[in-house]
Amino acid sequence: MRTKLAAGNWKMNGLKASLSELEGMAEAAKGASEVLICPPATLVAAASGAASGDIAIGGQDCHASASGAHTGDVSAGMLKDAGATYVILGHSERRTDHDEHDEDVRAKCEAAWEAGLMVVLCVGESLEEREASNTLDIIGGQLAKSVPDGATGHNLVIAYEPIWAIGTGKVPTTDQIGEVHDFMRARLEKRFGEGVGRSVRLLYGGSVKASNAEEIFAVSNVDGALVGGASLKAADFVPIIEALN
Ligand code: G3P
Repeated sequence: MRTKLAAGNWKMNGLKASLSELEGMAEAAKGASEVLICPPATLVAAASGAASGDIAIGGQDCHASASGAHTGDVSAGMLKDAGATYVILGHSERRTDHDEHDEDVRAKCEAAWEAGLMVVLCVGESLEEREASNTLDIIGGQLAKSVPDGATGHNLVIAYEPIWAIGTGKVPTTDQIGEVHDFMRARLEKRFGEGVGRSVRLLYGGSVKASNAEEIFAVSNVDGALVGGASLKAADFVPIIEALN
């Protein structure tokens, strides 16, 4: 039985004052689903204090090394020390803006596991790749190369985020989401065995909002969502959490 997960990725948004939104989410976060907010690194410590246990807090990236001469970077151990229990890795914005490849994501994932963080690992195809009917090949390759050996339902969540659906208001059809999620489930079962493969939660991300959440959550093998814009305000995120509960 997989616990559903409503995850919010605040990206490079949020100041201390934004943490008041967590109060507005707290009541809904007491429901059956797990709720996770990943604020910018500057807010992780304050957010984990403000969330008072109802809402899990995560980082949005970590370095592959535990410490050292890496100006501007944050290690998985630092996130953990600041109160994070999760970290998002391999988001397409990191892959594009910071030239991160599957091998980098894999190394970061190993570092995050070493520090005891649960990883939300993102995969997804571009519009060009979808139009060339390469979606499953791309997703299969990303899973094979960026997920290290040793995955379990307690250290890994996969988020399928088609790049063309992020922040665009465009959402794949429920058939398209189901096809990718069923494929990911089969790949995980094949590689890690049925027990582990079935225990890893699979999130959909890309223009999820209150008006489409219920329909998306009804798709097979969708265990929740990774939400960007609609996770910044309690008024937008609470209905998504409630659709999952
Ligand atoms: O990680 C979440 C994200 O990329 C989706 O963003 O704004 O389309 O919900 P958004």
